Amino acid sequence: MEPLIRVHDLHKIYNPGENEVRALDGVSLEIQRGEFIAIVGHSGSGKSTLMNMLGCLDVPTAGSYFLDGQDVSHLSDNQLSDIRNQKIGFIFQGFNLIPNLDALGNVELPLIYRGMGRRQRRKAAAEALERVGLKKRMRHKPGELSGGQQQRVAVARAVAAQPPIILADEPTGNLDSHSTLDIMNILKGLHQSGRTVIVITHDDDIARQADRVVRIMDGHIEADYLNRENHADKERNTESEREDISHGIKKEQ
Ligand SMILES: Nc1ncnc2c1ncn2[C@@H]1O[C@H](COP(=O)(O)OP(=O)(O)OP(=O)(O)O)[C@@H](O)[C@H]1O
Ligand SMILES: [Mg+2]
Repeated sequence: MEPLIRVHDLHKIYNPGENEVRALDGVSLEIQRGEFIAIVGHSGSGKSTLMNMLGCLDVPTAGSYFLDGQDVSHLSDNQLSDIRNQKIGFIFQGFNLIPNLDALGNVELPLIYRGMGRRQRRKAAAEALERVGLKKRMRHKPGELSGGQQQRVAVARAVAAQPPIILADEPTGNLDSHSTLDIMNILKGLHQSGRTVIVITHDDDIARQADRVVRIMDGHIEADYLNRENHADKERNTESEREDISHGIKKEQ
């Protein structure tokens, strides 16, 4: 079966010429449906650049990207934005909430872009906020919420439309240990409900909680391995079949 994500020899060069930065320098990666994967690396290693590519927020300088079997490396801005709306929920380190909209309004926003009607939208947004434990804070604006609560609003916004892929860039970077635990538990729940969850982090403790870890350094992948304990737990439960690591994890359908 075609992997959900298949990138081959991806390059991203900023400022081509004398001062060029090779932010991605030949990245090849396959991610199967339903994986929980951490992309780890030091500051400046190319994590956010890779997230921008995987999330169809930007296009590569060279290389190919097939998402769900579709070549997305040469699409127009409008086509990329359609794909993002349909397939991807984003969580950013800085929350990126709209300050003058309350929690409900923020979560509703991507549903508007999806063309969902008002009532259905309200319902989906309220349910998503309830799932992240913010039922009583729906009418609060971001400035009236703690950092952890704001990040939970951002998670609710990412998942309200039930996209198959969740892409999170340092989702716990600004949070204390308690809120970090909350967010990681929500992400684990999303994975258990069948979503493909990709978490970008510089933090090994966060990476250990994923099933698979991809280490990136200077724009290329230096390691790609399974977290044995997490994966062993799951194998007992689901009898998933493991393939060669370079092809990621293949689960029996
Ligand atoms: N728009 C840009 N123009 C020029 N260089 C850029 C641009 N964005 C990123 N870079 C450079 O590309 C490299 C990779 O940056 P990227 O943001 O992907 O790193 P990162 O791994 O996400 O780092 P951090 O952990 O600090 O967020 C860095 O050297 C950075 O300076
Ligand atoms: Mg970054």
